Amino acid sequence: MTEKLKVGIIGAGGIAKGVHIPNYMKCGDRVEIVAIADVIKEKADHYADEFSIAHSFGDYEEMLQTVELDAVSVCTPNKFHAEATIAALEAGCHVLCEKPPAITVAEAEDMAKTAEKTGKLLTYGLHYRYAPEVVTLKRFIDGGELGDVYASRVNAIRRRGIPGWGVFTNKELQGGGPLIDIGVHMLDTGLYLMDFPEPETVLGSVYQKLGKRKGVGLMGSWDYENFSIEDMARAMIQFKDGSSIMLETAFAANVEKHDVMNVSLMGDEGGADVFPLKIFQEKHDTLIDTSPAYLPKKGNHELLIEEFVNSCLTGKKPITTPDQGVVLQKLITAIYQSAETGEAVKL
Ligand SMILES: NC(=O)c1ccc[n+]([C@@H]2O[C@H](COP(=O)([O-])OP(=O)(O)OC[C@H]3O[C@@H](n4cnc5c(N)ncnc54)[C@H](O)[C@@H]3O)[C@@H](O)[C@H]2O)c1
Repeated sequence: MTEKLKVGIIGAGGIAKGVHIPNYMKCGDRVEIVAIADVIKEKADHYADEFSIAHSFGDYEEMLQTVELDAVSVCTPNKFHAEATIAALEAGCHVLCEKPPAITVAEAEDMAKTAEKTGKLLTYGLHYRYAPEVVTLKRFIDGGELGDVYASRVNAIRRRGIPGWGVFTNKELQGGGPLIDIGVHMLDTGLYLMDFPEPETVLGSVYQKLGKRKGVGLMGSWDYENFSIEDMARAMIQFKDGSSIMLETAFAANVEKHDVMNVSLMGDEGGADVFPLKIFQEKHDTLIDTSPAYLPKKGNHELLIEEFVNSCLTGKKPITTPDQGVVLQKLITAIYQSAETGEAVKL
């Protein structure tokens, strides 16, 4: 067992600065961030100065060859997740890769195979699993309060929330739009709470109605002229056990609420909304709604990084597995494929 985890960061952008670096730092003595790499070397240098990181590189391969690391966070645009993750695993590091796992199914499968082959841990930044609402509801579900959960609605919908920074509207670098960026979080949360049933059929639609024209931007102004992703995606996913998910996700849509992230579950003993957490049941001839009077306050990201660090130090597997990453990638790909062909996709 390693005593102090030596961590490297690949990609010195927003999520590295806002989430990975500060939360590794919160782990105190158990972790040291020793190196950071970015294709734009000045960005790596800048964070190295700001956060007292000993080594910075313009090429992550050089970082992996030069510095002895136990674990790596992959914080690049989605296009580079697979190559950076595989290189880090091959170099003997455990990997926490940002979501989505990758852009293609083949990449996610290669990442999972490499983790298996090298015996290193691979997990993903699917931080909503650590939200107190999700952790609490999982206990209720495992305790049988919802009975057989056979249907779910997955929503990640913003009224005018096209990100005005980064590369979120660039299909080549990200692989897609709201589906792959925010929809993936709620889809993963739904699958996790339903115990990852095996997918059978996917019917999807995508739209590009608002993103390619100038308009109100509640998350900054985006480059509408080069907007190459969908602004909305919808899908029906059916599973082999008969259960199903209806998914709706958008960066921009003409709806009332500005930002909805939610999963609704329906079981034969009860249903639930996750955000905010409320359970719906029929008991003693009465329809009742139950909501928690108290939930722990620790942040999702903090718990995600804490679990990754603990896993690296103890060998205990994180809750998000490489195989689940493959399932997510298959579903995302099938939704895009179905939208393109107009046909349901059998998995
Ligand atoms: N978990 C979440 O809620 C959440 C939130 C935001 C972003 N993300 C994910 O984090 C990732 C990065 O997003 P971001 O907002 O930090 O983007 P960003 O554009 O701010 O940063 C990405 C950085 O990676 C660098 N980079 C690009 N190619 C590289 C390569 N081959 N090697 C090394 N560095 C490279 C870029 O120069 C840039 O500095 C994306 O996958 C995104 O989906 C997750």
